[in-house]
Amino acid sequence: MTGEASRPETRLGDVTPADRPRVGDILRATGHFRPEEIDTALEVFDSAFGLGVRRDPDYRWVGMRDAAGLLVGFACYGPTPLADRTWDLYWIAVEPGVQGGGAGSMLIKEVERRVADERARLMLIETGGREEYRGTRRFYERLGYAEQARLRDFYAPGDDRVTLTKRFDDRAAPGA
Ligand SMILES: CC(C)(COP(=O)(O)OP(=O)(O)OC[C@H]1O[C@@H](n2cnc3c(N)ncnc32)[C@H](O)[C@@H]1OP(=O)(O)O)[C@@H](O)C(=O)NCCC(=O)NCCS
Repeated sequence: MTGEASRPETRLGDVTPADRPRVGDILRATGHFRPEEIDTALEVFDSAFGLGVRRDPDYRWVGMRDAAGLLVGFACYGPTPLADRTWDLYWIAVEPGVQGGGAGSMLIKEVERRVADERARLMLIETGGREEYRGTRRFYERLGYAEQARLRDFYAPGDDRVTLTKRFDDRAAPGA
């Protein structure tokens, strides 16, 4: 892991409804998400915790906190509807001051650990194909994700939708 000696102390844990403002702050601080994307993430947050809407247990959140307990990163994931043990990673974001210290990798590994308990077969991640997403794609590739599909001009002209996937042990397939 990089920056082991100097990186701020962080620890994995659950996300709670009280973290909602921090989720918005972190998404904004990354400079990576458009306002409508941030609104969508917060709608998903509200669904996950049943805040003013019916709770949807298929949106799961895992968080990363600093030594003071402040949320500094999170991932949101869930089972893909109508698929057999396929999961989606919907969002991952880390506070800019904490990026590069291994928090993002730890969040992904924690998501993988949690879905393994549910016999996950496949994880999907969708990301943009533009040049500015190259670093993010490399981050995923280092964690074992590979480009599986690309829908040209999906988000906008010149902005493809890239689907990265990682397969897990398939020995637990039905009937196996
Ligand atoms: C992607 C993200 C979650 C990674 O979190 P992190 O805590 O920085 O991740 P780690 O420290 O475990 O790994 C960082 C590695 O990925 C690379 N990386 C991640 N994002 C990068 C980017 N945008 N440009 C260049 N490199 C990037 C870093 O170079 C680093 O590599 P290194 O270990 O050789 O230094 C974080 O950068 C982030 O929040 N980005 C903005 C939001 C985003 O892109 N989310 C994903 C789309 S939903």
